[in-house]
Amino acid sequence: MKQKVLLASNNAHKIKEIRAILGDFFDIVSLREAGVESDPEETGKTFEENARIKAVAGMKASGMPCIADDSGLEVLALDCRPGVMSARYSGSHGDDAANNEKLLAELADKPDRSARYVCVICMAFPDGRELEARGECYGEILKEKRGNGSFGYDPLFYFPQFGKTFAEISSEEKNEVSHRNAALKAFEKLWEKEINDK
Ligand code: IMP
Repeated sequence: MKQKVLLASNNAHKIKEIRAILGDFFDIVSLREAGVESDPEETGKTFEENARIKAVAGMKASGMPCIADDSGLEVLALDCRPGVMSARYSGSHGDDAANNEKLLAELADKPDRSARYVCVICMAFPDGRELEARGECYGEILKEKRGNGSFGYDPLFYFPQFGKTFAEISSEEKNEVSHRNAALKAFEKLWEKEINDK
């Protein structure tokens, strides 16, 4: 029987993507499905710290092993901002339009527009073990938005391999190359090693 693992999220998109890759190993339940409340303040300065804060809080609240992720956009010319502030870059949490406008304003006079999305997955176990994996995905910030799909910074995030922004491709195409997918694949390898080393 598969081990029941809490996912410290209620985001349907994340639940689907994480189940698709790690569902062979774990029976993954969301916070809502498990009836667990856990919403710690993300006070970390790195994606690693914030993913760990969420995984440990979920594990403590439920008594189950818990997986959490943290992600965001890093822009080279902005010394890696917005980084862990990605969701609240403009001040109000989750205001994608305002976040994108602020990004365009800050990049207005910068010739280098290279950027990367980062995702870190952390799993915390009740016995104190922790596993962590990182995935990245490289692109450029356009001068204006393109495409209507997706969310966050995707209409500005141009992915050279596709010649399109992440808002101009299907979610299936994006999932193939995304930072979250890369982190999950790296995590899958770590988990296989963990099982084999036992
Ligand atoms: P979180 O990991 O759910 O806290 O997401 C942090 C923020 O990073 C989101 O609110 C978005 O602004 C941004 N972000 C993370 N991943 C993506 C992505 O795949 N596309 C667009 N924006 C993203």
